Amino acid sequence: KNYSVIASVLEKANVGEVTEVKGWVRNIRIQKEHIFADVNDGSCAKKLQIIIPKSLKTESLTYGSSVHITGKLSESPRGQLELVADDVKVIGDCVVSNGYPFNPRTPHPPEYTRQYLHLRSRTNYISAVLRIRSALTKHIHDYFMSKHYININTPILTSNDCEGAGEVFKIQPDNEATVKAMMQEGRDKDSVYFGSKTFLTVSGQLHLEAACRSLGNVYTLGPTFRAENSRSRLHLSEFYMLEAELAFCSTLKQLQTEIEDFIKYIFIEIQNTNEDDLYLLEKNSKIPLWVDKPFVTLTFDEAKTILEKKGIADTEEGINKEQELALVEHCGGIPVFVVRWPKDMKSFYMKECQDDTSKVDALDLLTPITGEVVGGSLREDNYDKLLSKLPSDRLNWYLELRKFGNIPTGGFGLGLERLLQVMCGVNNIKDTLPFPRWPHNCDM
Ligand code: 4AD
Ligand code: MG
Repeated sequence: KNYSVIASVLEKANVGEVTEVKGWVRNIRIQKEHIFADVNDGSCAKKLQIIIPKSLKTESLTYGSSVHITGKLSESPRGQLELVADDVKVIGDCVVSNGYPFNPRTPHPPEYTRQYLHLRSRTNYISAVLRIRSALTKHIHDYFMSKHYININTPILTSNDCEGAGEVFKIQPDNEATVKAMMQEGRDKDSVYFGSKTFLTVSGQLHLEAACRSLGNVYTLGPTFRAENSRSRLHLSEFYMLEAELAFCSTLKQLQTEIEDFIKYIFIEIQNTNEDDLYLLEKNSKIPLWVDKPFVTLTFDEAKTILEKKGIADTEEGINKEQELALVEHCGGIPVFVVRWPKDMKSFYMKECQDDTSKVDALDLLTPITGEVVGGSLREDNYDKLLSKLPSDRLNWYLELRKFGNIPTGGFGLGLERLLQVMCGVNNIKDTLPFPRWPHNCDM
């Protein structure tokens, strides 16, 4: 080991220690006797100020260059650690006039940095979001593991379209010889490889329900794919979804309590671990005041009445994005559960309400910025009712779960990127992951 990451220098090192760091110059000021360079290596939001005597040879030390610096730690007049360099090596130079798209003086709006996906994690904004995203994954696993949930890796290749919305990407081999040979075996062209039509998963829920009937509470955090023809600020073709399935769960209230506890935990943990990143994201990203307030619950019918009173309940059946955001605003910016949805608006697996067979025990959680961030429900556990709604006999295995040692379960799916939008104050979902995919955008 011949250097330390800046996060650990700032955490552990002391004034007077000889230290080596490697990173990128994020700002540079040349004064009479010294050069002041702010170096960041991605390990934390902070930059380490380097003081370089002009006597050291440093011609190619410019904004954007990568450097290896050796020196002694001292304390700045403001009480911060800084490194007084006695050796500076430029590892890779960076000549802005050769087309480097960033500079430290002008702000770079997200629409601009999105044109440079391969370089944009060098901006403060994207690097802060990505560090928060990284910590978020840890906190999610910590939360569920501490509550004895079992983490299940649900398959990415699947023959089910769980949501039934027809938004699946179809999988086919791209090898002519393989396809030809398999067709000669009498296979159908559409399902030549697996013998049935196969897709990239839109949700791991149905597999989680199978695991839940032996392992108890289970969860999965993985990539999810939807072939929606949407370029909105809230949709991706590939996103990460956290899905949990709760064993022996027979009321929507139980499910709501788990979702609410989980979301509050996550926001508080991120505030503890990523305060500097939240600070970098500036005023858009204060931890919301609602973390210590109870979430609101509205039935679908109550939500519609509120929207009617506001004069924005159009004839459309569901609740559109504008209406979702209006409901959250109506509730003072506090997240809102909308529960008990009309059966015909929701997926086949949702459980009918006991006192109203036209409704299902489904919930959407709405938040500021994104509207819907979670979708969930109790699952239909009655064999005959489920049989009558089963969309395909390829889901017979799913039906059979209700036949042996059946239990009531409920679960939810939370879009990781939407949660990051709320957490980081990011308007466009494409700025919450390093390499977003949306229609016509999969080149990098
Ligand atoms: O509401 P959805 O479709 O629910 C399900 O897939 C259930 N099977 C989950 C479950 O109960 N296990 O999706 C869940 C969440 C949405 O609330 C949203 O946050 C996110 O996934 N989501 C998307 N995020 C980004 N881009 C898209 N195209 C998304 N589609 C859904
Ligand atoms: Mg939904």
